[in-house]
Amino acid sequence: KIIVLDFGSQYNQLITRRIREFGVFSELLSHRITADEIREMAPKGIIFSGGPNSVYDENAFSIDPEIYELGIPILGICYGMQLMMHNLGGKVEPAGNREYGKSELSLLIPDSPIFKGTPEKQIAWMSHGDLVAAIPDSFETVATSADCPFAAVQNTDRNLYGVQFHPEVRHSEYGNDLLRHFTFDICHCEGDWTMGNFIEMEINKIREQVGDKKVLLGLSGGVDSSVVGVLLQKAIGDQLTCIFVDHGLLRKGEAEQVMDSLAGKFGLNIIKVDAKKRFLDKLTGVSDPEEKRKIIGNEFVYVFDDEATKLDGIDFLAQGTLYTDIVESGTETAQTIKSHHNVGGLPEDMQFELIEPLNTLFKDEVRALGIELGMPEALVWRQPFPGPGLGIRVLGEITEDKLEIVRNSDAILREEIANAGLDRDIWQYFTVLPGIRSVGVMGDGRTYDYTVGIRAVTSIDGMTADFARIPWDVLQKISVRIVNEVDHVNRIVYDITSKPPATVEWE
Ligand code: XMP
Repeated sequence: KIIVLDFGSQYNQLITRRIREFGVFSELLSHRITADEIREMAPKGIIFSGGPNSVYDENAFSIDPEIYELGIPILGICYGMQLMMHNLGGKVEPAGNREYGKSELSLLIPDSPIFKGTPEKQIAWMSHGDLVAAIPDSFETVATSADCPFAAVQNTDRNLYGVQFHPEVRHSEYGNDLLRHFTFDICHCEGDWTMGNFIEMEINKIREQVGDKKVLLGLSGGVDSSVVGVLLQKAIGDQLTCIFVDHGLLRKGEAEQVMDSLAGKFGLNIIKVDAKKRFLDKLTGVSDPEEKRKIIGNEFVYVFDDEATKLDGIDFLAQGTLYTDIVESGTETAQTIKSHHNVGGLPEDMQFELIEPLNTLFKDEVRALGIELGMPEALVWRQPFPGPGLGIRVLGEITEDKLEIVRNSDAILREEIANAGLDRDIWQYFTVLPGIRSVGVMGDGRTYDYTVGIRAVTSIDGMTADFARIPWDVLQKISVRIVNEVDHVNRIVYDITSKPPATVEWE
């Protein structure tokens, strides 16, 4: 395997993902890892990720210098390269201009093992404020760009490589080739890793971690927690108890579906808790989105705690946290965008140890995992649904009436998207209630009622998204049905922003 050490770049998990796409296992680890720990793990290669720091910052992330002595090939990317140069006797300086975007590389050593077979001029994606101003004597310059004298460097004797650009980003034309060369030609990986291996590995890891203790899993009905449920059941069988909290913020018919399929078909041991009132009471009078998320997240765990106490002897709490949830909630190294329910909401006095078997994966990888586990496509291809549920789709203060509007309009939207055969093409589609009321005319009378927003996006991994180009006639049908069938709605709007600058959810 290849390990990627995390220095905080938003792209860092993309590196592990690209390598997994080659059929080689890769995972992201903290830069605090020691050389001894790495030696024990025996990876075939190490990648230092990029990061927002300058190597001269007071709190700049550093590494155990012994790592360079392990004899394992290292590729430093952006900050990772600067750190390597800084550690080994080169010099890093602030760049005159912050360089951001596409840049043309000129190869000085075209047969360098990392560039082999690629053109002498090529486009690469740069994003940095510092640059390497001098390299150690043992290194040679492989590529330059207009703004960057040392765009790529190497020491082939020690198998140390550094690139200032981001090869993991698609805009770097030959970036994938570079990662492939590093993985296969330099690290000599085999390329025989599959999702099947991942399952085997995770199952072993889970068994080792859990022993003969008991695990509690919160099922939300979404893809992620369902996959975790089925995976855990494979690993530890009836040591797993699932709790399905109906917080009253679920979609129409969802609770029934979850029970039918997971308890029914897959035989998971599920306790269903009706906590609707508990959640709504706590949310009364609260309109701030972050506060709502925190309340829902906390309440979720409190309900769990209560159930767990009844269950006796539970030590672990499993969650379907994905990599994207972690990044957007801010890791040790990345900045916070939104505090995601699975991560940020956990109260400090929580008494479980966490198991999060999906936290290195992207959504599409989780789906592949579900299929590999033998789960039906209908379950695996369910659109993502946020932990706080409809609670963040009724904007501002939540009331039962408003929830009902979102639930009913959402059910119509889902039905019509499926009728139009678009459910696989659109990553996520739902309705929101912004709380705006406007004037309309129905029959002969004036109305003053709510506006419902339709959000539908295409995406690969939820990190970026574009609004879905739903045909007008499908939108029209949805609009007519919602206004006719859902009380207190007289206007429908379609959200045409992408992410960024907007997010998928409205809160
Ligand atoms: P945003 O709104 O951040 O959403 O662009 C990206 C993806 O994440 C889902 N999402 C969440 N998932 N807990 C979750 O488990 C949350 O708190 C949460 N907030 C957003 C969202 O539905 C989309 O798929």
